[in-house]
Amino acid sequence: MNDSKNQNPEAQVTRRNFLKTTSSAVVAGSILGGLSIERSAFAAGSDTVNIALIGCGGRGSGAANQALSTQFNTKLVAMGDAFNDNLLRSLENLKKSHPDKVNVPPDRQFVGFDAYKQAISAADVVILATPPGFRPIHFEEAVKQGKHIFMEKPVATDATGVRRVLAAAEEAKKKNLKVGVGLQRHHQLGYLETMKRLHDGQIGDIVSMRCYWNGTTPWVKPRADLERQAGRKLTEMEYQMRNWYYFVWLCGDHICEQHIHNLDVINWVKKGHPVRAHGMGGCETRKGKDYGEIFDHHAVEFEYADGSRCYSQCRHQLGTWSNVSEHVVGTKGTCDVSGHIIRGENAWRFKTPGAKDPYQQEHDDLFAAIQNNTPYSEVEYGAHSTMTSVLGRMATYSGQVIEWDQAINSQIDVMPKSFAFDAMPPTVPDANGNYQLPVPGKTVVV
Ligand SMILES: NC(=O)c1ccc[n+]([C@@H]2O[C@H](COP(=O)([O-])OP(=O)(O)OC[C@H]3O[C@@H](n4cnc5c(N)ncnc54)[C@H](O)[C@@H]3O)[C@@H](O)[C@H]2O)c1
Repeated sequence: MNDSKNQNPEAQVTRRNFLKTTSSAVVAGSILGGLSIERSAFAAGSDTVNIALIGCGGRGSGAANQALSTQFNTKLVAMGDAFNDNLLRSLENLKKSHPDKVNVPPDRQFVGFDAYKQAISAADVVILATPPGFRPIHFEEAVKQGKHIFMEKPVATDATGVRRVLAAAEEAKKKNLKVGVGLQRHHQLGYLETMKRLHDGQIGDIVSMRCYWNGTTPWVKPRADLERQAGRKLTEMEYQMRNWYYFVWLCGDHICEQHIHNLDVINWVKKGHPVRAHGMGGCETRKGKDYGEIFDHHAVEFEYADGSRCYSQCRHQLGTWSNVSEHVVGTKGTCDVSGHIIRGENAWRFKTPGAKDPYQQEHDDLFAAIQNNTPYSEVEYGAHSTMTSVLGRMATYSGQVIEWDQAINSQIDVMPKSFAFDAMPPTVPDANGNYQLPVPGKTVVV
């Protein structure tokens, strides 16, 4: 949690000014989207910007804190989560941080798979921070209801989801909705300054890139612990929802959930996405029933349209080399992108003490765009970076060379056919409780 509000009084925005401009934006969007104007609190002349949080875990709570810490008169009015305990924990913490800005009575606390619909309807701006498998469904609904949106990365876990998000983004533009995507490096001053120099050609043509998210396992929720806490057996769906990191339909594998940040930076450097990829991966050390069906390492070579290549690694293995970074090589120099350092004839190093926390900055920027009614959509690059990480996963799971066009047009849909705690998820364990992992050379991905 942080509280790095913009303290510049000249930058302070009056509530009336905010509401005046957002009102016209939402009215325009409402008319275009065929919505009743009364459904928008802004348009109805309310004094506050109402926020709903969908997915009340660690990041959702952090994002809500940041939305409540902008200079605008924001209020958290609704929350939705698959699980009541997660919702209540988040609510208590947010109330402690923002006692005057959190007003979520029981009738605006929504629980279950359909919670998102009601929570979205209660707000002007929605924060979507569930596991990424649900993002396309929730994003489509938020756009349908004409709301401004902050959604976390990744924006999907498969190509079908990416296409849904890109289609909904077109609708969002027609409705003049502002959409932020939680790839916060785009709001981090050091990255912005570095990127400006790379795009100005200060290291010449960029011919080679590499990036890493090598670390350890983020968390695991063993079934036995969950069942002990609940005092009963969990259905398979409930277990997977609680231990979501280890299931492709929910998480996309860690190449998608975490390494997307680094792949996104490389796409940003190249102003585009790769055209093909091949790679290898597997699960060497993180074995066992509680680690589901994902790999613990991936190494992928991505090729861009100009023939340049990005060598990427991501790994979750205890006791191995840890590194989270991006680097590029140009014809006139090299750049440590994450360290914000250029070496070569235009040597430079970013030095600005006190740069703002990018998690706060991304919310400040989104709300400023709403206030100023300036176009704001981070969806296209968010969706392409999601697809880049899905492409990498397709390459490592299959062991084949996968073309971007093949990948993004894949008709494989990893999501369940129905959503209920007694419904069957797309993958289930064998008689011994183990999940089938992908087998390169055999697994079909497109
Ligand atoms: N930008 C970043 O640096 C960053 C950092 C951490 C997480 N994230 C992203 O944020 C998202 C959430 O991650 P987290 O770490 O907060 O996970 P989390 O497990 O802490 O929280 C997820 C919450 O969503 C709820 N949920 C699950 N399915 C739901 C559904 N269908 N409807 C409503 N609620 C549902 C869960 O019960 C849980 O409370 C992920 O996409 C993750 O990649 C981004």
